Amino acid sequence: MAPVVEIGDLERLARRRVPKMFFDYADSGSWTESTYRANREDFSKIKLRQRVAVDMTDRSLESTMIGQKVAMPVALSPVGITGMQRADGEILAARAANEFGVPFTLSTMSVCSIEAVAEATKKPFWFQLYVMRDRDFINGLIDRAKAAGCSALVLTLDLQILGQRHKDIRNGLSAPPKFTPKHIWQMATCPSWCLGMLGTKNRTFGNIVGHAKGVDDLSSLHSWTAQQFDPRLTWDDIEWIKKRWGGPLILKGILDVEDAKRSTDYGADAIIVSNHGGRQLDGAPSSISVLPEIVDAVGDKIEVHMDGGIRSGQDVLKALCLGARGVFIGRAFVFGLGAMGQAGVKLALDIIARELDTTMALCGEKRVTDLSRMNLYHSGQQWMAG
Ligand SMILES: Cc1cc2nc3c(=O)[nH]c(=O)nc-3n(C[C@H](O)[C@H](O)[C@H](O)COP(=O)(O)O)c2cc1C
Repeated sequence: MAPVVEIGDLERLARRRVPKMFFDYADSGSWTESTYRANREDFSKIKLRQRVAVDMTDRSLESTMIGQKVAMPVALSPVGITGMQRADGEILAARAANEFGVPFTLSTMSVCSIEAVAEATKKPFWFQLYVMRDRDFINGLIDRAKAAGCSALVLTLDLQILGQRHKDIRNGLSAPPKFTPKHIWQMATCPSWCLGMLGTKNRTFGNIVGHAKGVDDLSSLHSWTAQQFDPRLTWDDIEWIKKRWGGPLILKGILDVEDAKRSTDYGADAIIVSNHGGRQLDGAPSSISVLPEIVDAVGDKIEVHMDGGIRSGQDVLKALCLGARGVFIGRAFVFGLGAMGQAGVKLALDIIARELDTTMALCGEKRVTDLSRMNLYHSGQQWMAG
């Protein structure tokens, strides 16, 4: 096997090892995928400021996110059906994050349940909440996350209705997957994936089946999820959710300065500047392009995190320079998981850390917490001009 030196290598391996419909589910954005592409392309427009003859010994990537210590300021994003990229995917990814010392965020739409992940891991993880119409179910989910010792709630605000993703439609991927001969063939060409799936009980939406009213099997789940994402969600809902939860709260999906300002009224601990990895409003700007204006508007009032398009330690560094306190990675860890399971997620984190550390040194800095716009070529915002 060729050596794995960058996230792109993990992506290529995952493409071979994960059934096409599930690989495509991760490697897709909505409609024309212009925002999905922009998330990555805009990082490459940012140039770094090289400094020389600076003592580069004793460097440190350690930081904090919402006051919690992290080995580097990179958390794992909530990713739905991670457990379909590899059997028990959420548990494997959470263990890799624990091993590295960064937060793992479990999606509401995970395969492994909150309880299953808590039982299989030793450190607290973060839980991501989608607001559904069935408020009893949501209250129950919040209580379950509390009981499992989750140390932050990530409330996603940008998915009241689902953006249309053409690849999923073409692949016939529905929730739950209805398996046709084409799907069975796609799975049969990935034997180690199949073996893993045969060896686990975790094959459905673990947080939902058996917990939501009227959802006892896969067929009832299909109609339930189709109707459940709540289009009535408004800012007012944050108050009762925050009260019920009672712990650290992060608002995910902020892409506009006005919404960022609004976020500061609700006592949240952080916001995530995010366009859902280009999976919701196609045509929206990349996360990295709006990060500076959002940091300028609210950075002194609330911790600002970001996600979208991060595939290297250099991308992490650029986001930190532009004022993010921390970042989240989605596909970068998902590709590691599909390629090599827990070891692949750990490898993805190791690759990002090594790239971040080397880049930081070549920029003449020793601590990630010291990075600023001064480390970008053309300080200020001129980096986007070209
Ligand atoms: C396959 C996939 C599933 C996702 N599922 C969720 C989810 O369940 N909840 C959520 O808040 N965000 C979800 N997201 C968005 C991610 O949390 C994150 O915002 C995005 O992946 C960041 O972009 P990146 O993948 O380029 O790093 C998902 C993203 C992907 C790629």
